[in-house]
Amino acid sequence: MRETELIRSLRAVRQLSDREIPDDVLQDVLEAGRWTGSSKNTQPWDLIVVRNRETLTGLSKCGAFAGHLAGAKLGIALVMHGDDPWTCMDEGRLMQNLMLAAWAHGVGSCIGSIYPADNERRARDLLGIPNSLSLRTMLSVGYPAGPQALRLPPTARVPRGRRPLKDLAHWESFGNHSDRGAAG
Ligand SMILES: Cc1cc2nc3c(=O)[nH]c(=O)nc-3n(C[C@H](O)[C@H](O)[C@H](O)COP(=O)(O)O)c2cc1C
Repeated sequence: MRETELIRSLRAVRQLSDREIPDDVLQDVLEAGRWTGSSKNTQPWDLIVVRNRETLTGLSKCGAFAGHLAGAKLGIALVMHGDDPWTCMDEGRLMQNLMLAAWAHGVGSCIGSIYPADNERRARDLLGIPNSLSLRTMLSVGYPAGPQALRLPPTARVPRGRRPLKDLAHWESFGNHSDRGAAG
């Protein structure tokens, strides 16, 4: 098994089972999130764990692709203290750490983007979040409903897999896709 297998195998899991997530697992996931690095160590975030089914159903309607929240065992709201590019990068790092920490325990997760602005307002109201803070991202969290939960359904209209490394990696200068002789 490769050292990076945990990272490589992380998938968006939208079909989640009813299986209880043990408290120590959830604590460990939140702790991993807490240790995320941020610009100037500002830690511009708060997390809300949501288990209430009605609230999750309400949140599932606050984004065109957030429907999976309705069936999540729990949701985690990433409440951000701003929306400048650095804070958005901090948010991405926090989100990925939460997802990887969950996956390390075999727990699946999927982002539910909260948008546009009127949906964000409704979601903030549902969770009692002050207007000065942002809520762009909810995470659905739960054990995968089965092996099929790790695969996209055939009807999904997003690309599968990833671009090959030889296309996205450049060596020394943009457009040089060969690492041979690039270092000079
Ligand atoms: C910024 C961002 C927003 C996303 N928003 C949603 C979303 O609203 N709903 C959803 O089901 N998946 C969402 N995703 C998950 C992506 O669809 C998923 O990461 C991508 O299709 C790759 O899936 P895979 O890792 O399972 O191969 C989002 C991912 C990112 C990075």
